[in-house]
Amino acid sequence: MHFKTRTHNCGELRESNIGENVVLNGWVDRRRDLGGVIFIEVRDRHGITQVVFEPTFNEQSHNAAKDLRNEYVISIEGVVRKRPADTDNPDLPTGHIDVMVNNLIVLNEAETPPFPIKDEIDTHEDLRLKYRYLDLRRPKLQKSLILRHKMAQIARQYFDENGFIEVETPVLMKSTPEGARDFLVPSRMHKGKFYALPQSPQTYKQILMVAGMDRYFQIVKCFRDEDLRADRQLEFTQIDVEMSFVDQEDIFTIVEGLMKRFFKQVWNRDLETPLPRLSFDEAMEKYGSDKPDLRFNLEMKRLNNVFADTGFKVFKDTIDTKGVITGLLAPGCGDYTRNQLDVLTDFVKGYGAKGLIWIRVKDGELESPTMKFFTDEEKKNLTEALGAKPGDLIFILSGSKLKTLNTMGALRLEMARRLNLIKENAEPKLLWVTDFPLFEWDEETGRFYAMHHPFTSPRMEDIPLMESDPGKVKARAYDLVLNGNEIAGGSIRIHNSDLQAKMFKALGISEEEAQYKFGFLMNAFKYGAPPHGGIAFGFDRMAMIFAGENSIRDVIAFPKTASAVSLMDDSPSTVGEEQLNELHIKIR
Ligand code: AMO
Repeated sequence: MHFKTRTHNCGELRESNIGENVVLNGWVDRRRDLGGVIFIEVRDRHGITQVVFEPTFNEQSHNAAKDLRNEYVISIEGVVRKRPADTDNPDLPTGHIDVMVNNLIVLNEAETPPFPIKDEIDTHEDLRLKYRYLDLRRPKLQKSLILRHKMAQIARQYFDENGFIEVETPVLMKSTPEGARDFLVPSRMHKGKFYALPQSPQTYKQILMVAGMDRYFQIVKCFRDEDLRADRQLEFTQIDVEMSFVDQEDIFTIVEGLMKRFFKQVWNRDLETPLPRLSFDEAMEKYGSDKPDLRFNLEMKRLNNVFADTGFKVFKDTIDTKGVITGLLAPGCGDYTRNQLDVLTDFVKGYGAKGLIWIRVKDGELESPTMKFFTDEEKKNLTEALGAKPGDLIFILSGSKLKTLNTMGALRLEMARRLNLIKENAEPKLLWVTDFPLFEWDEETGRFYAMHHPFTSPRMEDIPLMESDPGKVKARAYDLVLNGNEIAGGSIRIHNSDLQAKMFKALGISEEEAQYKFGFLMNAFKYGAPPHGGIAFGFDRMAMIFAGENSIRDVIAFPKTASAVSLMDDSPSTVGEEQLNELHIKIR
């Protein structure tokens, strides 16, 4: 069909265009038929313009406009005029003009959409995902994708200016588990063998350093077969970075420079650098999290000293087993009902706590079923340690260190939510968390795992501890945390094959297994590997926070649901027998 292509987009016309003859193409956003006159709002990615069909202006177009329905694709030609007095719409940038139509062409009809194409619509997410192309017509989602695009451009430009080169790495690679489960791709040509999709380009970017690339970055898809959450997808995007001849400070400087640009160009905020830093130990003690949200003040306090000589068996056991007793003050919550306290007790039980000690702070006394176990001295020291005042509520948890701190950290966030401590326009809080443990003990399998990944360097002074006391070894690893979200993580790497072998040994990986899985990397290290380190940003998470959204699904064009399916194209799906045969696969 012949049609005139647009002279302007739907967000473009202003009072300066009054009198011009224009052509607009777009979708029917809204249609009002006021008997004599028909008003249509035409929408595209750039905005909305009101166009007017009047029988006295052009009878034929006015008649044709009677058949228009929402989401029809149209082309109109007409004259821009100032809107009549009192009909301006100051909410629209085009709201001071409209277009008197003298020619209408319907480019395509549309069925009635299953939900209105409007922001703030209350539609089940499953329906939105099934009809994602309609959902994506909503201005809010379009804004988010445009913001994401802008951030990608900022990053590319920044790294280019700083001497980084973007190198693409394979999507079909060797299975080298990095912590999560791999996605496997069966090989047709090599029966019984599999490629894996990269959980990240980690090994490749290190090999690029051995190859002398010096400074690498890549905006890259990563794949991890894990359970999904609001901040996790099976495939997600990293801004991946690696640098040669650097220490931690050099990486921090580069990352802080990029964050400054994001803050300025997206939020129009000045980010003060260097950023604050918290050690992993400090973050856990104070906030019960390795990604603490510092937008509010509630701080946990270690109470082991207060109860050093306690007669209370629960606390005594904790102290004897080198556990932790941690307290949290909930200001003004002293009048919580028994029911509210039961709900919070169930909340911590959900994290594996046996129970929750709560204490109401009254004028000159503490009130709680547990009080009979505390001496007056302990009560006084407890009140002081937490700075408790009459009307406040005290929570105490005790038990093994990381688990207990983590549980109190979750309660800290829950109380912030209940007390509405995170204000809508709260100043964003960005910080480094440093000095992570190199290893993490797993109760279930009874062995150590790499907390970050097995290529992370220990602190040099801790190398001797790798055999004698692995739990005490600190890593040269760091995370970047924004508003309680881990938005990036990285480390200085091991660049020496002996130390790498030592690391595998500490992880209980036999020499044979290490050779089979990582031999290519250790081999590369034999040919002059420069000292190197890097970091990877979770780009979806970052875009989510900068867009003010609560789920990364809202900044991804075609995300999977929480149960890992794509409702639009119905994947995963079964495949034909023939395809399976070619891949030497039989479904049991
Ligand atoms: P890490 O595993 O910490 O490090 O990943 C880096 C960042 O990626 C984001 N992220 C995710 N985002 C969405 N969905 C997921 N399933 C998901 N998993 C992780 C997080 C995280 O901070 N190779 C190392 C980096 C390095 O050491 O340089 C790595 O991948 O925001």
